Amino acid sequence: MTYSFDSLTIDLPDEEATLAAGHALAQCLQAGMTVYLQGDLGAGKTTLSRGLLRGLGHQGRVKSPTYTLVEPYSLAKAEVYHFDLYRFADPDEWFEAGFDEYFHPQSLVLIEWPDKAAGLTPPPDLTLSLAVQNTGRVLQLFSHTDTGRTCLNTLSI
Ligand SMILES: Nc1ncnc2c1ncn2[C@@H]1O[C@H](COP(=O)(O)OP(=O)(O)OP(=O)(O)O)[C@@H](O)[C@H]1O
Ligand SMILES: [Mg+2]
Repeated sequence: MTYSFDSLTIDLPDEEATLAAGHALAQCLQAGMTVYLQGDLGAGKTTLSRGLLRGLGHQGRVKSPTYTLVEPYSLAKAEVYHFDLYRFADPDEWFEAGFDEYFHPQSLVLIEWPDKAAGLTPPPDLTLSLAVQNTGRVLQLFSHTDTGRTCLNTLSI
């Protein structure tokens, strides 16, 4: 019998643990996927994205895309687009900025604050949800597609 799961919960006691979880998760991500990062202000979404990007081979800085809305990274596995839609307010801007064109088979898209562009972002393969827990964080991972499910089931954190 094959055991498969659709969600997973991981305790992250400190920032290093968040970076390590991102690094591990990067191993099961692939081009064509969309990943939502959820959680309140300061929950650790950008830190997790930083770990993910480093796990995908990015060696430079990882800036929070708070003002630019999106930061691109051209990496071996995929064209990675890291969105932070906290300041996204005008739905027309989605198409004016060409954001719809960022989603294609060679791209891997990470989205902080996806709810700010509800109905515009494609549905996710994975949702990564962070919350404060004591002095650390707790990370819940949810898969929504076969690709996402395969990722969670091959993950070793
Ligand atoms: N597991 C953890 N335990 C304790 N602190 C953490 C943990 N992970 C990240 N942090 C810290 O939380 C703070 C906020 O992190 P981060 O900027 O990644 O949050 P965010 O969710 O992206 O916030 P925003 O919604 O403003 O973009 C940082 O100082 C970071 O070091
Ligand atoms: Mg952030």
